[in-house]
Amino acid sequence: MRTPLIAGNWKMNTDSNSAAALASEIAKRAGEVQDAELLVCPPNVYLTLVRDAIGDASVALGAQNMYHEANGAFTGEISAAMLCDLGLQYVILGHSERRHILGESDSDVNKKALAALAAGLVPVVCVGEQLADREAGKTAEVIRGQFDGSLAGITAEQIQSVVLAYEPVWAIGTGKVATPEQAEEVHADLRKQLTERYNSEIAESVRILYGGSVKPDNAAELLGQPNVDGALIGGASLKADDFLAIATAGAAVG
Ligand code: PGA
Repeated sequence: MRTPLIAGNWKMNTDSNSAAALASEIAKRAGEVQDAELLVCPPNVYLTLVRDAIGDASVALGAQNMYHEANGAFTGEISAAMLCDLGLQYVILGHSERRHILGESDSDVNKKALAALAAGLVPVVCVGEQLADREAGKTAEVIRGQFDGSLAGITAEQIQSVVLAYEPVWAIGTGKVATPEQAEEVHADLRKQLTERYNSEIAESVRILYGGSVKPDNAAELLGQPNVDGALIGGASLKADDFLAIATAGAAVG
Protein backbone atom coordinates (compact mmCIF):
# COMPACT_ATOMS: atom_id res chain seq x y z
CA MET A 1 0.00 0.00 0.00
CA ARG A 2 1.49 3.33 -1.05
CA THR A 3 0.65 6.28 1.21
CA PRO A 4 -0.25 9.26 -1.00
CA LEU A 5 2.25 12.10 -0.84
CA ILE A 6 0.84 15.60 -1.28
CA ALA A 7 3.72 17.96 -1.98
CA GLY A 8 3.62 21.74 -2.26
CA ASN A 9 6.27 23.32 -4.46
CA TRP A 10 6.16 26.98 -3.49
CA LYS A 11 8.68 27.85 -6.23
CA MET A 12 10.02 31.43 -5.97
CA ASN A 13 6.98 32.71 -4.09
CA THR A 14 6.11 34.03 -0.61
CA ASP A 15 8.07 36.34 1.69
CA SER A 16 9.07 35.69 5.27
CA ASN A 17 5.67 36.69 6.68
CA SER A 18 3.54 34.84 4.16
CA ALA A 19 5.79 31.74 4.24
CA ALA A 20 5.48 31.52 8.03
CA ALA A 21 1.72 32.15 7.88
CA LEU A 22 1.16 29.51 5.18
CA ALA A 23 3.28 26.94 7.00
CA SER A 24 1.56 27.65 10.33
CA GLU A 25 -1.89 27.28 8.80
CA ILE A 26 -0.98 23.98 7.12
CA ALA A 27 0.63 22.73 10.34
CA LYS A 28 -2.39 23.72 12.43
CA ARG A 29 -4.77 21.87 10.11
CA ALA A 30 -2.55 18.91 9.18
CA GLY A 31 -4.65 16.68 11.43
CA GLU A 32 -7.59 17.13 9.02
CA VAL A 33 -5.70 14.94 6.55
CA GLN A 34 -5.64 11.28 7.44
CA ASP A 35 -3.91 8.63 5.32
CA ALA A 36 -1.78 11.01 3.26
CA GLU A 37 1.63 12.51 3.88
CA LEU A 38 2.05 16.29 3.55
CA LEU A 39 5.22 17.94 2.27
CA VAL A 40 6.04 21.61 1.76
CA CYS A 41 9.00 22.88 -0.27
CA PRO A 42 9.53 26.61 0.35
CA PRO A 43 12.33 28.77 -1.07
CA ASN A 44 15.66 27.94 0.60
CA VAL A 45 15.89 31.26 2.45
CA TYR A 46 12.67 30.44 4.31
CA LEU A 47 13.44 26.80 5.15
CA THR A 48 14.32 27.51 8.76
CA LEU A 49 11.35 29.68 9.50
CA VAL A 50 9.01 27.21 7.80
CA ARG A 51 10.57 24.37 9.79
CA ASP A 52 9.98 26.33 12.99
CA ALA A 53 6.41 27.20 11.97
CA ILE A 54 5.69 23.51 11.30
CA GLY A 55 6.98 22.53 14.74
CA ASP A 56 6.00 18.97 15.55
CA ALA A 57 3.01 18.82 13.15
CA SER A 58 2.95 15.97 10.61
CA VAL A 59 4.24 18.01 7.70
CA ALA A 60 7.51 17.08 6.01
CA LEU A 61 9.95 19.69 4.74
CA GLY A 62 11.79 19.68 1.43
CA ALA A 63 13.93 21.88 -0.78
CA GLN A 64 13.33 22.63 -4.44
CA ASN A 65 16.87 21.87 -5.57
CA MET A 66 20.42 21.21 -4.34
CA TYR A 67 23.92 20.72 -5.75
CA HIS A 68 25.58 17.31 -5.97
CA GLU A 69 28.94 18.23 -4.41
CA ALA A 70 29.30 17.92 -0.63
CA ASN A 71 30.98 21.31 -0.08
CA GLY A 72 33.58 23.63 -1.53
CA ALA A 73 33.90 26.46 -4.01
CA PHE A 74 30.47 26.34 -5.65
CA THR A 75 29.17 29.88 -5.24
CA GLY A 76 25.44 30.09 -4.76
CA GLU A 77 24.86 26.36 -4.33
CA ILE A 78 23.75 24.32 -1.34
CA SER A 79 24.49 20.68 -0.56
CA ALA A 80 22.46 17.71 0.59
CA ALA A 81 24.33 17.76 3.90
CA MET A 82 23.21 21.35 4.50
CA LEU A 83 19.59 20.37 3.88
CA CYS A 84 19.93 17.43 6.28
CA ASP A 85 21.54 19.74 8.81
CA LEU A 86 18.36 21.85 8.77
CA GLY A 87 16.24 18.75 9.34
CA LEU A 88 14.81 18.36 5.84
CA GLN A 89 13.59 14.99 4.58
CA TYR A 90 12.98 15.66 0.87
CA VAL A 91 14.42 17.49 -2.12
CA ILE A 92 12.75 18.07 -5.49
CA LEU A 93 15.17 17.34 -8.34
CA GLY A 94 14.95 17.92 -12.08
CA HIS A 95 11.81 20.04 -11.98
CA SER A 96 10.98 21.11 -15.54
CA GLU A 97 11.70 24.75 -14.70
CA ARG A 98 15.22 23.74 -13.72
CA ARG A 99 15.58 21.56 -16.80
CA HIS A 100 14.18 24.05 -19.30
CA ILE A 101 14.88 27.50 -17.83
CA LEU A 102 18.12 26.73 -15.98
CA GLY A 103 19.50 24.11 -18.35
CA GLU A 104 19.75 21.05 -16.10
CA SER A 105 20.40 17.77 -17.89
CA ASP A 106 19.47 14.21 -16.95
CA SER A 107 23.08 13.71 -15.94
CA ASP A 108 22.93 16.70 -13.55
CA VAL A 109 19.72 15.33 -12.05
CA ASN A 110 21.31 11.91 -11.73
CA LYS A 111 24.34 13.24 -9.83
CA LYS A 112 22.05 15.17 -7.51
CA ALA A 113 19.79 12.15 -6.92
CA LEU A 114 22.77 9.97 -5.98
CA ALA A 115 24.11 12.67 -3.64
CA ALA A 116 20.70 13.19 -2.03
CA LEU A 117 20.30 9.45 -1.41
CA ALA A 118 23.81 9.16 -0.01
CA ALA A 119 22.99 11.95 2.46
CA GLY A 120 19.69 10.34 3.52
CA LEU A 121 17.32 12.71 1.69
CA VAL A 122 14.39 11.45 -0.36
CA PRO A 123 14.70 12.85 -3.88
CA VAL A 124 11.47 13.70 -5.72
CA VAL A 125 12.74 13.17 -9.27
CA CYS A 126 10.65 14.95 -11.91
CA VAL A 127 10.15 13.89 -15.50
CA GLY A 128 7.81 15.29 -18.14
CA GLU A 129 7.40 15.89 -21.85
CA GLN A 130 6.96 19.22 -23.60
CA LEU A 131 3.94 19.96 -25.76
CA ALA A 132 5.89 19.39 -28.99
CA ASP A 133 6.97 15.94 -27.73
CA ARG A 134 3.38 14.98 -27.01
CA GLU A 135 2.13 16.29 -30.33
CA ALA A 136 4.87 14.33 -32.11
CA GLY A 137 3.79 11.14 -30.31
CA LYS A 138 7.09 11.03 -28.41
CA THR A 139 5.83 11.21 -24.82
CA ALA A 140 6.81 7.65 -23.86
CA GLU A 141 10.21 7.94 -25.52
CA VAL A 142 11.02 11.25 -23.78
CA ILE A 143 9.90 9.99 -20.37
CA ARG A 144 11.85 6.76 -20.77
CA GLY A 145 14.96 8.76 -21.68
CA GLN A 146 14.58 10.97 -18.61
CA PHE A 147 13.93 7.92 -16.42
CA ASP A 148 17.06 6.14 -17.66
CA GLY A 149 19.25 9.23 -17.50
CA SER A 150 18.06 10.63 -14.18
CA LEU A 151 18.02 7.31 -12.35
CA ALA A 152 21.23 5.79 -13.74
CA GLY A 153 23.15 3.77 -11.17
CA ILE A 154 20.42 3.87 -8.52
CA THR A 155 20.31 0.52 -6.79
CA ALA A 156 17.26 -1.59 -5.98
CA GLU A 157 17.61 -0.58 -2.36
CA GLN A 158 17.96 3.12 -3.15
CA ILE A 159 15.02 3.31 -5.55
CA GLN A 160 12.70 2.43 -2.69
CA SER A 161 13.64 5.80 -1.14
CA VAL A 162 12.95 7.71 -4.36
CA VAL A 163 9.70 9.45 -5.26
CA LEU A 164 9.00 10.02 -8.96
CA ALA A 165 6.89 12.89 -10.26
CA TYR A 166 5.36 13.01 -13.71
CA GLU A 167 4.82 16.62 -14.70
CA PRO A 168 3.85 17.26 -18.31
CA VAL A 169 5.51 20.59 -19.05
CA TRP A 170 2.47 21.84 -20.97
CA ALA A 171 0.31 21.39 -17.87
CA ILE A 172 2.51 23.28 -15.40
CA GLY A 173 1.10 26.65 -14.38
CA THR A 174 -1.09 26.72 -17.47
CA GLY A 175 -4.40 25.53 -16.07
CA LYS A 176 -4.29 22.79 -18.76
CA VAL A 177 -4.36 19.66 -16.67
CA ALA A 178 -3.60 16.25 -18.12
CA THR A 179 -6.68 14.07 -18.28
CA PRO A 180 -6.72 11.29 -15.70
CA GLU A 181 -6.23 8.83 -18.58
CA GLN A 182 -3.18 10.71 -19.92
CA ALA A 183 -1.66 10.81 -16.45
CA GLU A 184 -2.39 7.14 -15.76
CA GLU A 185 -0.88 6.05 -19.08
CA VAL A 186 2.48 7.66 -18.26
CA HIS A 187 2.40 6.57 -14.60
CA ALA A 188 1.70 2.97 -15.62
CA ASP A 189 4.60 3.11 -18.08
CA LEU A 190 6.90 4.49 -15.37
CA ARG A 191 5.89 1.61 -13.12
CA LYS A 192 6.58 -0.80 -15.97
CA GLN A 193 10.06 0.66 -16.33
CA LEU A 194 10.61 0.21 -12.60
CA THR A 195 9.51 -3.41 -12.93
CA GLU A 196 11.81 -4.00 -15.88
CA ARG A 197 14.81 -2.43 -14.20
CA TYR A 198 14.21 -3.76 -10.66
CA ASN A 199 11.26 -6.08 -10.01
CA SER A 200 7.51 -5.84 -9.57
CA GLU A 201 7.62 -5.80 -5.78
CA ILE A 202 9.97 -2.84 -5.80
CA ALA A 203 8.00 -1.14 -8.57
CA GLU A 204 4.83 -1.44 -6.50
CA SER A 205 6.49 0.28 -3.55
CA VAL A 206 7.63 3.45 -5.37
CA ARG A 207 5.36 6.48 -5.23
CA ILE A 208 4.72 8.30 -8.50
CA LEU A 209 3.20 11.78 -8.13
CA TYR A 210 1.35 13.74 -10.79
CA GLY A 211 2.02 17.47 -11.17
CA GLY A 212 0.64 20.13 -13.46
CA SER A 213 -2.36 22.35 -12.62
CA VAL A 214 -3.63 20.11 -9.81
CA LYS A 215 -6.51 21.93 -8.11
CA PRO A 216 -9.12 20.94 -5.51
CA ASP A 217 -11.70 20.30 -8.23
CA ASN A 218 -9.59 17.90 -10.33
CA ALA A 219 -7.60 16.22 -7.55
CA ALA A 220 -9.94 13.34 -6.74
CA GLU A 221 -10.11 12.12 -10.32
CA LEU A 222 -6.35 12.37 -10.92
CA LEU A 223 -5.40 10.89 -7.58
CA GLY A 224 -7.97 8.15 -8.01
CA GLN A 225 -5.97 6.61 -10.86
CA PRO A 226 -4.37 3.32 -9.81
CA ASN A 227 -0.79 4.45 -10.49
CA VAL A 228 -1.08 8.05 -9.26
CA ASP A 229 0.23 8.14 -5.70
CA GLY A 230 0.01 11.80 -4.87
CA ALA A 231 0.50 15.25 -6.29
CA LEU A 232 3.23 17.83 -6.77
CA ILE A 233 1.39 21.12 -6.57
CA GLY A 234 2.61 24.56 -7.57
CA GLY A 235 0.06 27.38 -7.67
CA ALA A 236 -2.60 25.72 -5.51
CA SER A 237 -0.07 24.92 -2.78
CA LEU A 238 0.21 28.62 -1.94
CA LYS A 239 -3.27 28.60 -0.41
CA ALA A 240 -3.66 26.43 2.68
CA ASP A 241 -7.33 25.78 1.89
CA ASP A 242 -6.58 24.51 -1.62
CA PHE A 243 -3.53 22.49 -0.57
CA LEU A 244 -5.44 20.78 2.22
CA ALA A 245 -8.49 20.19 0.02
CA ILE A 246 -6.27 18.42 -2.52
CA ALA A 247 -4.68 16.39 0.27
CA THR A 248 -8.09 15.42 1.64
CA ALA A 249 -9.24 14.36 -1.83
CA GLY A 250 -6.02 12.37 -2.30
CA ALA A 251 -6.35 10.64 1.04
CA ALA A 252 -9.96 9.69 0.32
CA VAL A 253 -9.10 7.89 -2.92
CA GLY A 254 -5.54 6.84 -2.06
P1 PGA B 1 1.30 24.03 -11.00
O1 PGA B 1 2.83 23.61 -10.85
O2 PGA B 1 0.52 23.23 -10.00
O3 PGA B 1 1.28 25.51 -10.70
O4 PGA B 1 0.89 23.71 -12.40
C1 PGA B 1 3.19 22.27 -10.66
C2 PGA B 1 4.68 22.14 -10.51
O5 PGA B 1 5.42 22.79 -11.24
O6 PGA B 1 5.18 21.38 -9.64
